[in-house]
Amino acid sequence: MKILIFPDTEQAEAFVALEVAALVSKRPTAVLGLATGGTMERVYGRLVACALDQDIAFTQVRSFNLDEYWGVAPDHPASYTHYMNKRLFQPLDMHQALTQLPNGIAADADVEAARYEAAISAVGGIDLQLLGLGANGHIGFNEPTSSLGSRTRIKTLTQTTRNANRRYFDKAQDVPRFALTMGIATILEARAVLLLATGAAKSRAAAQMIEGPLSAFCPASALQLHPKATIVLDADAARELTLRDYFEEVHPHGARASVPPAHRT
Ligand code: PGA
Repeated sequence: MKILIFPDTEQAEAFVALEVAALVSKRPTAVLGLATGGTMERVYGRLVACALDQDIAFTQVRSFNLDEYWGVAPDHPASYTHYMNKRLFQPLDMHQALTQLPNGIAADADVEAARYEAAISAVGGIDLQLLGLGANGHIGFNEPTSSLGSRTRIKTLTQTTRNANRRYFDKAQDVPRFALTMGIATILEARAVLLLATGAAKSRAAAQMIEGPLSAFCPASALQLHPKATIVLDADAARELTLRDYFEEVHPHGARASVPPAHRT
């Protein structure tokens, strides 16, 4: 795992936005795995500004979002489809046919989950998967104790997650109880993953993900198995790391590691 700790939140968000912009600039037909949530809102704002400023075309990009609420129609203001259309797809003129989310109002959840997995495979898999981190250690909606071998499926949301997402719905009872989410194994198949966690509320989960045991109790710890996982934190999210000094020595202020030429001793 590459652990990048930035002194402030804005720098951490900017790094993630620039990584995505750089990938698409180099490979205009990239397949992106996308995330939602409060953390990504600001990343997408920066990404749109950067892409428009530098004339980076997103019109051939394909994307697959991690998850969608079950029973929430795409045009509902709290749906992730609505979130993505508003914050990324429309501002960057991305093609509707190339941008996919699980269908939260499909007739059959299992059939929809299988269709989604097949659609990802059909385009050759995901080049870069963006991830947020739940305060309970979830990635996507893979709640604690999700199988590390799981694939796209319907999951029951924990009360912690429902409370965290309460703000997007009018009434507490409107917060969905279920979601369709990529599984841990689906996420691990992406060729690279880039997780962003900011704020003190994420510090415990961040420490468990990076330094804790590989455990379904902290689903994000599965990223320890990924050969190309980059974890981007701000100072607050990094504060419970035992090896923080080491990570900051390797990547001061999130900079790339510099290894001097070998010399014989
Ligand atoms: P947040 O959600 O960015 O709204 O904190 C992250 C997540 O739950 O994955």
